[in-house]
Amino acid sequence: MRIIEKISDIKAVIKEYKKFCKTVGFVPTMGYLHEGHLSLVRASKSQNDITIMSIFVNPTQFGPSEDFSKYPRDMERDSRLAEESGVDIIFAPTVEEMYPDGYKTYVNVETITEVLCGKSRPGHFKGVTTVVNKLFNIIEPDRAYFGQKDAQQVIVIKKMVRDLNMNLEIVTCPIVREQDGLAMSSRNVYLSPEERKAALILSQSLQEAQNLILKGEKSRAKVIEIIKSRISCEKLAKIDYVQMLDAKDLKDIELIGGSILIALAVKFGSTRLIDNVMMEV
Ligand code: PAJ
Repeated sequence: MRIIEKISDIKAVIKEYKKFCKTVGFVPTMGYLHEGHLSLVRASKSQNDITIMSIFVNPTQFGPSEDFSKYPRDMERDSRLAEESGVDIIFAPTVEEMYPDGYKTYVNVETITEVLCGKSRPGHFKGVTTVVNKLFNIIEPDRAYFGQKDAQQVIVIKKMVRDLNMNLEIVTCPIVREQDGLAMSSRNVYLSPEERKAALILSQSLQEAQNLILKGEKSRAKVIEIIKSRISCEKLAKIDYVQMLDAKDLKDIELIGGSILIALAVKFGSTRLIDNVMMEV
């Protein structure tokens, strides 16, 4: 496995692959790898000749009061895990390499970035679409792999790819959870043992909501109220949002039906966790 930091170097390597008609699968990450990231690598390996992972903590998607500088980083451990799971190349550029002095260009997807996490984290998705666009231009993948864990992110990226006629396929992979149900996240390391235990309420309340809907509940307001009241029972939990939207266009719904997304963001201390379920009703 190679680790490449320079854009010109990785472009040269990819040019060689393309000469031999190798298909390239791409897994963009911010590192501090866990099974969720590695599941994307496995999906890519099963569908492509070459798998490239990027590890780049992207400053433009963090707000001024967010955790950019303290986001967990461990390149040594990440390269070991990536190599063991069969990644061919890690692309790990510096911030200066991606955003040199005088950088001026941003990509913005409208409307669907103004709800859910986009509302709580203004500018976040502009940073995501900009860096993902740059990474796609550098790596020119045939397929790129994203986790359903960040449901809104996948919807936004797919919209960008369609709107800008980008020449690749976006593959969505299911949420990987700890045995007790907590969705895996690099940010879980911030949780104290008490917060870690309290955070189980997220997957449990989503599961309860899913069961209610499967039993025929049709009222969005009622299901959301139940999730909110369950989470509020945890003293350590502070709700940012709990919402149910149309999964296709992230528009509001009143009656439950069709393709729906129930998404939530909840803070435990200073750690903000997200989770969701998507259902066809
Ligand atoms: P990061 O949070 O490192 O996540 C990288 C990819 O792993 C994303 O597609 C995310 O949805 C997926 N992922 C994370 N936890 C997962 C889980 N428990 N199950 C399945 N997939 C999971 O998302 C980002 O980085 C950044 O925004 C990025 C796209 C790299 C742009 O900077």
